[in-house]
Amino acid sequence: MQYRHDPVMVKEVIDHLNCSPGKTYVDGTLGGGGHAQAILEAIGPDGCLLGIDRDPDAIVHAGKSLHSFKPHVQIFHGDFADLPQILSRLHMTGVDGILLDLGLSLYQLKGSGRGFSFMRDEPLDMRMNPEQGHTAATLVNRLSKKDLADLIARYGEESWAKRIARYIVDARSQQPIRSSLQFAEIVKKAVPVRHRRGRIHPATRTFQAIRIAVNKELDALEKFLDGAADLLNPGGRLCILSFHSLEDRIVKQRFKALARGCTCPPDFPKCVCGKTPQVSILTKKPVRPGQAELQANPLARSARLRAAERC
Ligand SMILES: C[S@@+](CC[C@H](N)C(=O)[O-])C[C@H]1O[C@@H](n2cnc3c(N)ncnc32)[C@H](O)[C@@H]1O
Repeated sequence: MQYRHDPVMVKEVIDHLNCSPGKTYVDGTLGGGGHAQAILEAIGPDGCLLGIDRDPDAIVHAGKSLHSFKPHVQIFHGDFADLPQILSRLHMTGVDGILLDLGLSLYQLKGSGRGFSFMRDEPLDMRMNPEQGHTAATLVNRLSKKDLADLIARYGEESWAKRIARYIVDARSQQPIRSSLQFAEIVKKAVPVRHRRGRIHPATRTFQAIRIAVNKELDALEKFLDGAADLLNPGGRLCILSFHSLEDRIVKQRFKALARGCTCPPDFPKCVCGKTPQVSILTKKPVRPGQAELQANPLARSARLRAAERC
């Protein structure tokens, strides 16, 4: 399949990144290169963009689709959590903005053949970087019932996690779980019919949970956010698009922590911690896609954009 992905909230992202000619940006989740192209157009021939993705297919595609912007774009196969190392290899001390557009690309979901979708019969892999880590099949066949239940409850916020874990363990004792459809059917059977929610497939939350665990998605986000402010020039912007409440909660809390100054107890007569705010938050509430975008691209419905500026 061709590499497909419709970038979400492009105008809002460019505005919040404060893109202008001659500046340097990082797109930490290059994917199909849609946001990257919009950034490159906004920063013009004197600007520079570093693009990162952990999926080798995204790197190949972006290399082709952004070819006309060379030499203003450099592409790296890796994890955005390792941005400090990438910048230091390039002898760069800071950039003017960083974008993360979290989650999966449409290509990964529908065209990668890696079992991300419960609508397709594919090997149950789910690795964004197929060169790294354990597959989803390894996890669901090897984890204990308790670990599976905890993982599905934590990363899927699934109220039927214990029951689903029990069904998985029963099913794998008959035969190993190898494919996405086989796994989806097991989960579907575990969720009582009267509790299935509207149009949402009963395996949605479990697939999300397993994918997050396979790719250690929240660990990467937290590691990145720990050092993110130090990677920005003064006035530099951080923009993060998240697609579920677990990610959005982490972004919201970390932004708040970075924006907080002194952490001394309120009854201290004067500050002894010496902490000052590292960022100011630009989005009190997350920015959501407008009606026109939602009509054109229903997959944008859960997108939330948060932005902060380096003090
Ligand atoms: C929603 S897509 C990005 C789409 C992109 N903004 C565009 O306009 O086409 C998310 C991408 O982020 C990548 N990704 C997710 N977590 C990552 C991480 N920790 N480091 C690097 N890339 C990551 C995925 O492989 C995927 O290609």
